[in-house]
Amino acid sequence: MGTDSQDRFGRSLRDLRVSITDRCNFRCRYCMPREVFGPDFTFLERSELLSFEEIARAVRAFVRCGVRKVRLTGGEPLLRRDVEELVAMLAAIDGVDDLAMTTNASLLAAKAGALRRAGLGRVTVSLDSLDDAVFRAMSDVHLPVGRVLEGIAAAREAGFDEIKLNTVVKRGVNEDGVLDLARYAGEHGYIIRFIEYMDVGTTNGWRLDDVVPGEEIVRRIGEHLPLEPIPPKYAGEVATRYRFRDGAGEIGVITSVTRPFCSTCTRARLSAIGEIYTCLFAGGGGDLRALLRGGADDTELEAMIRGTWAARDDRYSELRSRATRDLPKVEMSYIGG
Ligand code: GTP
Ligand code: 5AD
Ligand code: SF4
Ligand code: SF4
Repeated sequence: MGTDSQDRFGRSLRDLRVSITDRCNFRCRYCMPREVFGPDFTFLERSELLSFEEIARAVRAFVRCGVRKVRLTGGEPLLRRDVEELVAMLAAIDGVDDLAMTTNASLLAAKAGALRRAGLGRVTVSLDSLDDAVFRAMSDVHLPVGRVLEGIAAAREAGFDEIKLNTVVKRGVNEDGVLDLARYAGEHGYIIRFIEYMDVGTTNGWRLDDVVPGEEIVRRIGEHLPLEPIPPKYAGEVATRYRFRDGAGEIGVITSVTRPFCSTCTRARLSAIGEIYTCLFAGGGGDLRALLRGGADDTELEAMIRGTWAARDDRYSELRSRATRDLPKVEMSYIGG
């Protein structure tokens, strides 16, 4: 197993988030607005995407550099054909202690069993509202929210014990539904995290006024379901956690805007075409695919990853200011949440 890599601020490389497709069957306004990602939008060609073998080789190299957690994302990862084969390949890698996936769950009912059998450890489902009209407005999709709920239930049936739900909260759009979501999660034993709407990418028309601070969400839920803070489960956890005082269950808030967590950020991202991004808000990434396809040996892959990480000084959310606001930034559907 690997040895530690540290960046310029002494942060270790621990997590790798792998985007396996830039496509999605949803058009969430905050991520892939339909005006931009419409019928004329050109998605990546299949030949450009890393193959499963290339992804597995890259992950092995990252593990040698210290990565222990791997999360598959997209776009929507379940759109990638035979994704369970990739899961099985990654689950077999010594040193991958935690293998998770972020999905919109629209296809999860059909896939949950196969994913579990292949060795996926955890699933995280994006769910912005339980109200069908609000859900459809936010995801901009003709799909009943019930389909997502069925996907989540199927994951539980398939044996996923830890299921997380992620809710991006937008002022005036779904903020009134946070209490219902917290209740629903608590009743079913899911861990829900409310995420401050972020200025990721350049297409979602982000405004600070649209952000509902995590503190406000906690207050709002706490008025009905008393909460108390609990410590992070592991160092560098992005969510600030609270447990229900009157029963089992917990919620979290992810406050990238109001209380950034860059100082403990151990995350690297691998885009669907094999670029290494060291920040969610980066404008570009190092081309690992060129090495993978250019005959490089494992030592060279490792050297590139270590070199990229050693040079890292990203802390966008802490800097988030006029000076950085207008810099080019990659779209989240390209490198994954
Ligand atoms: P666990 O391993 O289950 O604890 O997951 P996680 O805490 O890494 O969270 P998850 O992968 O579910 O990410 C939830 C959301 O947090 C993402 O969709 C992003 O919106 C946000 N997020 C995650 N990582 C980062 C990050 O490095 N920077 C910023 N600014 N936001 C992040
Ligand atoms: N702000 C916050 N989170 C976002 N995501 C996508 N776009 C944004 C944004 N603008 C995250 C959500 C979703 C995951 C796939 O990406 O958490 O669940
Ligand atoms: Fe698709 Fe997830 Fe982006 Fe929504 S947030 S458009 S479900 S990738
Ligand atoms: Fe890490 Fe960049 Fe997010 Fe800060 S903004 S927590 S450095 S990914």
